[in-house]
Amino acid sequence: TTERSLVLIKPDAVRRGLLGEILSRFERKGLIVEALELRTMDESLADAHYAEHVDKAFYPPLKEFMTSGPLAALVLTGDSVIEVVRAMIGATDGRKAAAGTIRGDLSLSNRENLVHASDSPESAERELALWFPKL
Ligand code: CMP
Repeated sequence: TTERSLVLIKPDAVRRGLLGEILSRFERKGLIVEALELRTMDESLADAHYAEHVDKAFYPPLKEFMTSGPLAALVLTGDSVIEVVRAMIGATDGRKAAAGTIRGDLSLSNRENLVHASDSPESAERELALWFPKL
């Protein structure tokens, strides 16, 4: 089934000049870029986006990182896109992510892990409404 996922190419990726590399992987896979905006996350958007993590110990430095500079917010569309993108980005911790995945190939961090993607149809719906309310 064709579905949508909200994908963030995080500030570390933009700073490291990896925006093109990461976008290119999604394009080569055959996914459609339906929306793409460079945005800087503010505190309230960070708290809403990461609502399930706000009470965790790793949240303050995560918020600091995610609001530290521009990121690319994307809506990707395609068959089973939510599952497909999660497989392409790999495990959360770049040190453990499999080779061949974006994090496995390009990140060595559990926090600065280059990409966020919706993890279920429910989270996709919630995150799309937050980032692209008009879509
Ligand atoms: P993301 O897919 O955006 O979802 C939550 C984010 O929190 C995750 O990617 C990482 O950037 C960060 N994160 C998750 N677990 C940890 C952790 N144990 N330590 C530091 N950062 C984490």
